[in-house]
Amino acid sequence: MYKFIFSFFVLVFVSFPLSARQPAAIASAHPLATQAGEEVLQAGGNAFDAAVAVTAALAVVEPYSSGIGGGGFWLLHRASDQFEVMLDGRERAPFNAHRDMYLDKQGNVIKDASINGPLSAGIPGVPAALEHLAKHYGLLPLSKSLQPAIRYAREGFPVDEHYQRMAKFRLSALKKSSSAAAVFLHKGQVPAMGYVVKQNNLAHTLSLIAEKGADGFYKGELADKLIRGTNKAGGIWSQKDFNEYTIIERKPIKGEYRGMKITSVAPPSSGGIALVEIMNQLAAYPLEKLSDIQQVHYIVETMRRAYRDRAEYLGDTDFVKVPVARLISKDYAAKLRTSIRPNMATPSNTLPGVKKKDGATDTTHFSIIDHQGNRVAATLSINYPFGSCFVPPGTGVLLNDEMDDFSAKPGVPNVYGLVGAEANAIQPGKRMLSSMSPTFLETKNRLAVIGTPGGSRIITMVLLGALAFHQGESAQAIVDLARYHHQYLPDSIFYEPDAFSLQQIEKMSSMGHSLKAVENTWGNMQMVIWDKKKSMMSAASDRRGLGLGRVIP
Ligand code: GLY
Repeated sequence: MYKFIFSFFVLVFVSFPLSARQPAAIASAHPLATQAGEEVLQAGGNAFDAAVAVTAALAVVEPYSSGIGGGGFWLLHRASDQFEVMLDGRERAPFNAHRDMYLDKQGNVIKDASINGPLSAGIPGVPAALEHLAKHYGLLPLSKSLQPAIRYAREGFPVDEHYQRMAKFRLSALKKSSSAAAVFLHKGQVPAMGYVVKQNNLAHTLSLIAEKGADGFYKGELADKLIRGTNKAGGIWSQKDFNEYTIIERKPIKGEYRGMKITSVAPPSSGGIALVEIMNQLAAYPLEKLSDIQQVHYIVETMRRAYRDRAEYLGDTDFVKVPVARLISKDYAAKLRTSIRPNMATPSNTLPGVKKKDGATDTTHFSIIDHQGNRVAATLSINYPFGSCFVPPGTGVLLNDEMDDFSAKPGVPNVYGLVGAEANAIQPGKRMLSSMSPTFLETKNRLAVIGTPGGSRIITMVLLGALAFHQGESAQAIVDLARYHHQYLPDSIFYEPDAFSLQQIEKMSSMGHSLKAVENTWGNMQMVIWDKKKSMMSAASDRRGLGLGRVIP
């Protein structure tokens, strides 16, 4: 089914004699971004400098996935002292935002208000994250690590079929912003294959960040243009939003699954908690001894319960109390398991309830291990393809539409069909709940850096990858796995058309599961694995995308 998007993926293995230095590896969703990271490693940078280069390069060459006008989470492991930290560069609600800002007078959600145009944009976190990475963890100045991205913005990059698909999907919204249309469309239409997208204003913006750090973005001439342009078109940004934006260093969520260490992201992402909650429930089932059907049944039932809790409890812990310790405890998992029946689906509406479309989704991920063993797993987003589709004039900065990740109204699904409760309601300055799940996995013999885009399905894709890693699968086999997903509501197993046989579908239906085949949005996983026992590094980029995994001897 993915014939049309199979273009190329690269899997490489490099092993090395024990006396030599360890190889490095980078996997990202675009070959130019992987090359940017490699260039910076070759120039003497470490994984954190490479993360700066890859983040900025992706912002240029994958404008539909992430960007300087967006946010993300960077999970770091420093080899020298085993220090691990999550950099929270998530967007925040502007201080002028309020709980019901996307509701009409009758209290109904205004269609598309949180998806298109400047009112849908949170305050960007990527510029602050670039400075934070370079200043606190990198070896090189931003002026060096940002060079590849500045070059790509000036010289341009060629449109590929993925770009075309995303631009087609968002064409009408892109046409509404003349600054966006001028760069991302050609004469108001989706550009032809090979058309070169040049972004001179973005090159200038990146140069300001290279020269002045985050101040180049959040202060002075560029900040004025961003705020003025956004508000003139209906936005609600202020200089106070920019002055008070900071990166928050958070303690990662840690868990353990049958001897495998899991390190993932904390709120405002739901990823780490949901992943550990699912794996804690699964740990009691001898999955490898069970039939395929039984395995899928238990995996789906544990997904269902974790996504119910996501809807009820999760939000920005700086604003709401989230029972993190309870949700990731083994005792709680045991309690959840008591309602799982071996041969029968549990209808979601029989679980204690959060009362109460499908389309393209975007976001991006990259994974890095450097020659010293430093690691970065980073998932970055501007939310929907091409974010809000709005560029404040003269800035080159495509704004996110991450405000849609808040719960606009309890029980009303967002663009990913996710429902939320009070914990994820809009508040000024609050960070919207995310599903982004950059993760480290470590068994006795191997360690992995893994993550993917995919909206609400990110967590379950990383889960299936983690289970396959635990069973010893290779990086390429893991990123290429056929996928399935359950998110509590809607009460269906969504699956990739090649994930199940007809017989499996019939059997699972007879157990009370509703199944729906879905063609798209099955992610673009990027993974690197270091095999400690064999001293072998591998990097793999998802068959569904156009990315590149590279091992650097
Ligand atoms: N915007 C997708 C996410 O953060 O989960």
